[in-house]
Amino acid sequence: MTVESVTPDAPDASGTTEASDGAAQARTDATGLRVAPVAGGGFPGLGHGLKLVRDPLAFMSQLRDHGDIVRLKLGPKTVYAVTTPALTGALALSPDYIISGPLWESLEGLLGKEGVATANGPLHRRQRRTIQPAFKLDAIPAYGPIIEEEAHALTGRWASGEPVDCTSESFRIAVRVAARCLLRGQYMDERAERLCVALATVFRGMYRRMVVPLGPLYKLPLPANREFNRALADLHRVVDEIVAERRASGQKPDDLLTALLEAKDDNGDPIGEQEIHDQVVAILTPGSETIASTIMWLLQALATHPEHGDRVRDEVLAVTGGRPVAFDDIHKLTHTNNVVVEVMRLRPAVWILTRRAVTDTELGGYRIPAGADIIYSPYAIQRDPKSYARNLEFDPDRWLPERAKDVPKFAMSPFSVGNRKCPSDHFSMAQLSLITAALATKYRFECVPGSDDATHVGITLRPHRLMLRPIAR
Ligand code: HEM
Repeated sequence: MTVESVTPDAPDASGTTEASDGAAQARTDATGLRVAPVAGGGFPGLGHGLKLVRDPLAFMSQLRDHGDIVRLKLGPKTVYAVTTPALTGALALSPDYIISGPLWESLEGLLGKEGVATANGPLHRRQRRTIQPAFKLDAIPAYGPIIEEEAHALTGRWASGEPVDCTSESFRIAVRVAARCLLRGQYMDERAERLCVALATVFRGMYRRMVVPLGPLYKLPLPANREFNRALADLHRVVDEIVAERRASGQKPDDLLTALLEAKDDNGDPIGEQEIHDQVVAILTPGSETIASTIMWLLQALATHPEHGDRVRDEVLAVTGGRPVAFDDIHKLTHTNNVVVEVMRLRPAVWILTRRAVTDTELGGYRIPAGADIIYSPYAIQRDPKSYARNLEFDPDRWLPERAKDVPKFAMSPFSVGNRKCPSDHFSMAQLSLITAALATKYRFECVPGSDDATHVGITLRPHRLMLRPIAR
């Protein structure tokens, strides 16, 4: 089962069904469009903000009981929350919405304004055209040897019975694979380590700054602020070094960095230094955090569902006959792939997405005014009992073709759809499957006392502090 192939029609694909049982009734306005009801449970004066901050996953998940689209009051702001798979798909595919809103504005401030993840309109289209070849299906096999090397190096670093800190190890391999595959460079190993340290600190600090926007407080010379500023400066410095070194080398390997250095703007002129820099940052940052969190959850799944670890190992051995698993084996590893997809269903790295309406428009028959901020949660969508039987159960076999055909359209879109769809879906699936195969073939995993796999909500979802003991098979 691959994520891309989950596209059968939903029973409610028209997106115009009435709100589900127990939902507030939507009124219609003078134009006949429905007015999204305000979700229940807000506090007078504060609205829903407190609940969203306190327990965002539970809050986003229960919104489906209030309607297909509901309004949230976040302080003085009204935000529209979309709760059905069909409407999240319609939102992502509609030209009436752009990437914008507080989440993106704070990202831009820290990471740069000229990267593909935050651009809109013609600039975004041009940037996607530049980066797309590096992520195309036929570009991925060239990354195979690097992914293999990194996957086997990861398992080779560990000693049987010795506890492993899954957070730093997952981050390490994610950064190394992204940096080595996309920005091939001579001293990339040392740089990958620096990127790793910098990105881990930057992501922690960025999430804090987004959910608790205390502006001036983050400028005080406190140790945490200093650490964050140092890490952010180092991230930008490493990226500058990588770009400068590539230019000085005169080499033009067939990779993403060469594509960026050779890119032209709409007038046919080379793109500016700032844009090259921001593009590298905009690709490395989502690339490493998402993959790292997913690897942590894969390790957690192998530890808590050892029967699936055994099945992965048996499947790999049946394909490889005992040699190290290789990139070319991936397409034969059905169960391994299904384990990855099921982990991504229950633990989607990107758990919340936002858009802004650029015009007065409608979604599923609901009126959406120009300028409205809209949010939805792949986490809530992918755990909806209306889409999945035994929705909270870890069941990789639900992705076998005969069962996957019943999954509603857009109920499994961890990479999103439409013009903002993650460019790295194939690259990500290839690395995650190969890493899972390498891990489960060499080790089974036990939890170490003190390990905490409760969900930590940040820019991505990850276990709080996952410590596992690999036991050699
Ligand atoms: C965008 C998920 C890995 C680069 C996105 C979006 C999602 C996503 C949901 C769309 C955001 C939106 O609609 O607003 C994931 C997941 C990953 C993953 C679940 C792995 C488990 C990667 C990797 C890279 C990457 C490895 C690069 C090395 C990007 C970029 C965008 C993006 C550049 C912005 C695209 C645009 O706005 O046009 N990702 N991603 N992602 N992702 Fe990924």
